[in-house]
Amino acid sequence: MKLVCIGTINRDVVQFAEGRGMETLGGALYSILALSVFCGGAAEIIPVANVGQDIYQYLSEILRHQPNLNTSGLKRIETDNNTVYLYLTEGKEREEQTDLNLPPIEYRQIEPYLDCEALMMNFTSGFELTFDTVRRIIDNCSGLIYIDIHSLSLGIDANRRRIRRRLSEGFRWIEGADFVQLNEGETLAFLPPQSPHISPEETAKALVQRLKQACLLTRGASGVTVFTSASDFSLPAKKMEKVIDSTGCGDVFGAAFLTKFLESKDIRKSAEFGCIKAGEKCGYAGWENYIKSTKK
Ligand SMILES: Nc1ncnc2c1ncn2[C@@H]1O[C@H](COP(=O)(O)OP(=O)(O)OP(=O)(O)O)[C@@H](O)[C@H]1O
Ligand SMILES: [Mg+2]
Repeated sequence: MKLVCIGTINRDVVQFAEGRGMETLGGALYSILALSVFCGGAAEIIPVANVGQDIYQYLSEILRHQPNLNTSGLKRIETDNNTVYLYLTEGKEREEQTDLNLPPIEYRQIEPYLDCEALMMNFTSGFELTFDTVRRIIDNCSGLIYIDIHSLSLGIDANRRRIRRRLSEGFRWIEGADFVQLNEGETLAFLPPQSPHISPEETAKALVQRLKQACLLTRGASGVTVFTSASDFSLPAKKMEKVIDSTGCGDVFGAAFLTKFLESKDIRKSAEFGCIKAGEKCGYAGWENYIKSTKK
């Protein structure tokens, strides 16, 4: 089974609330590694991304340890990679600043892999795919399509701060996909310009009308609400005694959901598995020790 994961592997510079700092690779790397460990030998994982010259070697070292990864879709770019500066303050939405250096991934980089069983688009920069490329992928891919909206919902201001934006093409970004995952704040991206405020639930219900399977509205420590065209249900998050770092929880949720769905075709079971794995991620800073723990 071939499983494609499109998204930007960011260089993350994290500043925790108590002053501690951490530099690591993040973004789509969480999805790639999580898909790789959850699928095991059942699938070949094919990341498709542009990668800056400053991290290419380091990334190759990390990915070398995963036996089921096919790295032919990674393209070394002569600029530096994107860097995301994350400021984490407890109880508040995280603040982000980004250096966007990488060019968008072109359709011809993705075309060789469109015969896959499943394709995940995780918009970890929000600028890795143009609207036209996304449309061509959805229209031409033979496999199941899973979209994590993530930073597609964010623009960028003159100080490189990520700010909420509305997508002028609206629902057409996701029309015909199987699954869309997004958190409550990200639903704002789908409101038409100047439209009055609509609740995240209303937006999720409107989204699912354009999808083949379900819209997954994640709510951090409050779990997830799953919308299908027929009904909706909520699941609680895994109870965690200590949350060390929730960065990447959404990515781990998506990878776990997709892996379980490919095996079971059961949306509820897949969402339950997503909540368990994403909750466990909260116990670890970054991805390294988390991924090690899942391999045991
Ligand atoms: N504090 C927490 N405790 C337990 N589980 C959590 C916590 N935060 C997140 N999760 C789990 O992770 C899932 C996704 O989290 P969230 O809604 O924060 O996604 P996100 O905003 O896309 O995250 P990110 O973009 O940082 O990866 C939730 O549905 C929940 O199951
Ligand atoms: Mg996310």
